[in-house]
Formats: sequence, structure tokens, C-alpha cells
Amino acid sequence: MEHLINQRVRNIEISGIRKFFNMVAGVKDMVSLTIGQPDFPTPGHVKEAGKKAIDENITTYTHNAGLLQLREAAASFYRKKYDVDYSAENETIITVGASEAIDIAFRTILDEGSEVIIPGPVYPGYEPIIKLCGAIPVYADIRNTQFRMTAKLIEELITDKTRCVVLPYPSNPTGVSLNEEELSEIAQLLKDKDIFVLADEIYSELVYEQKHVSIAQFIKNQTIVINGLSKSHSMTGWRIGMLFAPEYLAKHILKVHQYNVTCATSIAQMAALQALTKGMDDALPMRQEYAARREYVFNRLKTMSLEVIKPEGAFYFFVKIPGGQASSFDFSMQLVNEVKLAVVPGSAFSEYGEGYFRLSYAYSMETLTEGLDRLEKFLSK
Ligand SMILES: Cc1ncc(COP(=O)(O)O)c(C=O)c1O
Repeated sequence: MEHLINQRVRNIEISGIRKFFNMVAGVKDMVSLTIGQPDFPTPGHVKEAGKKAIDENITTYTHNAGLLQLREAAASFYRKKYDVDYSAENETIITVGASEAIDIAFRTILDEGSEVIIPGPVYPGYEPIIKLCGAIPVYADIRNTQFRMTAKLIEELITDKTRCVVLPYPSNPTGVSLNEEELSEIAQLLKDKDIFVLADEIYSELVYEQKHVSIAQFIKNQTIVINGLSKSHSMTGWRIGMLFAPEYLAKHILKVHQYNVTCATSIAQMAALQALTKGMDDALPMRQEYAARREYVFNRLKTMSLEVIKPEGAFYFFVKIPGGQASSFDFSMQLVNEVKLAVVPGSAFSEYGEGYFRLSYAYSMETLTEGLDRLEKFLSK
């Protein structure tokens, strides 16, 4: 009966990150630097708010768009940080992680044959959803622009079918984050065109030196902003995301969200409310720790003469495979088999990631040290 499964679903695959993680999970003595998940516990006061919600029977459906108080806190977070106003009532939706926000945004704006411009290499969460919509991912090759999406690259790919440009910064897997000038140029290019921007800003709280800028500061009326608490507050399992969009768009996205999940979990929403009202500084100590790890990993990789860009945000290094012969999958398998080190092959981030591997530093210094020792041992052979 498998031939009866929807053709588009048959044509997509489980993410390469997960595939690799599952393959190495449970192998004895393996050091894994694969996963993009903070290694800190959710802050204690946030956990308490979740427990309290259960005890106080806040266990029912909420408004489809999320508890109004939480939407207000989310809109206030955005206003304080970027000086852009989103109405809590009509322009803010609390989602089940950033993942659901990506799904409902694409399903709202894409038609069969719509084209979506995406930088490549990129997080593997966009292409399958675009394809499920019958739309077409169009990759901008950012390998020759230091992994930076540019207005020029976008301009070259725009056709009369272009419906959306994805700007996922800070980037998973490269750690690159676009600055004000770069975003302003892209905004200039897009502002008079009927093209949406999907700005996935899930790593916005993890930017190390510069200030994070959002494209919505320039072209709010055509931008869908996605953020959430998974990375900033180490809350991946709580599944809370935020979506901001102008009202004419948000009211349609809300319908898709409603029929998809009804609402995000009430208990997780109460924990998120605590995080966004009393825990705005929670990300700081984590960011400091990531920053120290970033320095350490960068220096180690440089000592190994590996070609790598120092990431400006998120918690990944995207490293060029030396020699350039082995495919990223074969290279990663060799690391697994010969020194028991797991990283993610670059090919998991589209064909434009081939020739690289991603190393996550959302791991303790001890694990990072051991992992890098193993990498060094492998490379010195
Ligand atoms: C760029 C990017 N967007 C979205 C997500 C998904 O976030 P969430 O766990 O909130 O669904 C991830 C997770 O790794 C990511 O790296």
C-alpha cells in the first residue's frame, strides 16, 4: 500500500542531522558534537512556572493565537529589542516551536509553483515544507560570499514566480549573521516587489559581538518574523515559538495554525510567559559560556589549519573538509569509525554544504576538548 502515500510526502526525507544523530546514538564511547540543542537546563524559575500552571489547572485550550498576556510579552520583547511594533491581538501568534511557525507561514503564502529563494547551505527545515506545498526551493549559492546572503544574489534569482525569500540569521549551520547595512540593501531591493520575507531569527539572542538586526525594521509589511524560546532559554522540549506578521497576513496564518494545533500547550505557554517577563536576562550567562567555547573551538580548529569562518552567532562551526576528496558523508563516517567522533556532514544542509562538516559547540568544555582531540588525532594521520 506504500505506493498510495502522498507523492510529495514520499519525495521528502528525514533530516540528515537527525539521521546522523540516530545512527551514532548509543554507540559506546562516541563523542557527539552533532546536535543543535542548548546543553543547559531550562532556568529554574521558568520550570516552576510550568509546574504551577499544572497545579493551578491552567491545562485547557487557550486562545488559538496564545494567551494574550504571553502575546503581549512577546510583542514587548520585539518592540524593546528592535523598536518595531506588532499588535499582540492581531499580529502575534504563539506557535509550537519555530518549526510550526515555518510550516504555517509557508502554507499560508505559497501556491503550487511558487518559488522561494533560500541561501545554501542552510538549515534543512525549509525545503521539505516548501516542497509539500508544491512550491520550488531556489538556492542562492552563498559559498563564495563568505556564507552571506546578498541583495545581488537575490536579485539574480528573482522571477515572476518568486513569492518569498528566506533570511535565517544568525545561521544554522554557518553562524553568520547579517548586519544592518546588508539587511538594508536587501530591504531596498525587495521593498517595491510583491515578495515576502521569512526571517527565521530563532538564534537572535545568541549573537556575540554585534547587535542583532531584523529585516522587519525595514520592511515590516512584507516580513514574517519567526523566533522562539528553544535556543534563548534552553526550552527546546517545551515547544514554544513566536510568529510576528502584519495583520493582513497574520489573520490567514492563524487559520492554518488553528486547524493544525489549535494552540500551543497551555503549560508551556505559562512557562514562556515567565521567561519573557522575568527571565529576559536568562540567555546572558549561556551566551557568555557559548562565547568562551567559541573562542576555544576556533583556536583549536585554526591550530589544525582548518578553513573556517569565526561564527557571529548561534553555536555552530561550519568547517571545510581538508583535502576536498571525500564526500562530507564519507568523511563524517570515517571520523565515526576511526576516532569515534560524530559531526554532521555538510550535505545535510543542502548540496551547497557538500565539502564541509558542522560542529556544534552546545556541549561542555570537557566534551569539546575530547572531541577536538579526536579530530586532531584523525587529521594528523
Ligand atoms: C534555523 C532554525 N530554525 C528553526 C529551528 C527549530 O526550532 P524549534 O525547536 O523552536 O522548532 C531550528 C532548530 O534547530 C533552527 O536551527
